[in-house]
Amino acid sequence: MPTKKLHHFSGLFITLFVALHLFNHLCSLWGAERHIEVMQTLRPFYRNVFAEVLLLSAVAVQVISGIRLFRATRTPRRKGFARLQRWSGLYLAMFFLIHLSAVMAGRYVLNLDTNFYFGVAGLNTFPFNLFFVPYYGLAVVAFFAHVAAVHSMKMKSAVLGLTPDAQAKTILFIGILMSIVLVYGLTNGFQGVVIPESYKVLIGR
Ligand code: HEM
Ligand code: HEM
Repeated sequence: MPTKKLHHFSGLFITLFVALHLFNHLCSLWGAERHIEVMQTLRPFYRNVFAEVLLLSAVAVQVISGIRLFRATRTPRRKGFARLQRWSGLYLAMFFLIHLSAVMAGRYVLNLDTNFYFGVAGLNTFPFNLFFVPYYGLAVVAFFAHVAAVHSMKMKSAVLGLTPDAQAKTILFIGILMSIVLVYGLTNGFQGVVIPESYKVLIGR
């Protein structure tokens, strides 16, 4: 299968998971308990052996095919969304490598339940938050930016009086808003989350 087609289909599958995953993180607006409850409801769907092998393989395919596309599309003529597509993809490649190594190390090396507290320990602790706020914030923006760029390339007609370019800008704007709302929720409204004793290993305490 050509690289672009592979990237396209594997991207659709990953998008399905990311939608569930970001919805799960949005539930942190209603507190840590609600976030954990929703994750427990979703896990049978994405953490069973079949789905997880498929998801992690899709991520590997996405990163490898994405980097090939990144190298193949190196041209100074790419502007605007076409340019954003390459750089948001590159950020996602780096994010996937760090994020998934962290989740797997948390699960299999530290033997932790990789739940809400695992995800937010660094985000709620100074000075680690100096890294984690932009790291997670940009990941959400990069995901929406990448989708917005695909949309701007494929969409040819106006919707609700918005040109394809304005539609793509709207998707990007929703991504920026989503990123701010998620950081707000995952830090308990910027007030900070109390990290349980068993997760303090993540923040060197
Ligand atoms: C959440 C993960 C990702 C999704 C859902 C996704 C989805 C997509 C889709 C649907 C396209 C359009 C392909 C087509 O024309 O049919 C695309 C293009 C592209 N993606 Fe990704 N992608 C993801 C991650 C990545 C990564 C990790 C990279 C690595 C650099 C990357 C780099 C690119 C590049 C450079 C293009 C432009 C191809 C071109 O203009 O010909 N993507 N992506
Ligand atoms: C907004 C900040 C984010 C936080 C706090 C976060 C946190 C987590 C946590 C705690 C897990 C483990 C889930 C479990 O044990 O059931 C996880 C898994 C994962 N996350 Fe994220 N995540 C974030 C954003 C993202 C984004 C933007 C993407 C993709 C673009 C992503 C992709 C994944 C993937 C692919 C997994 C692996 C699922 C599995 O096989 O268990 N995450 N994340």
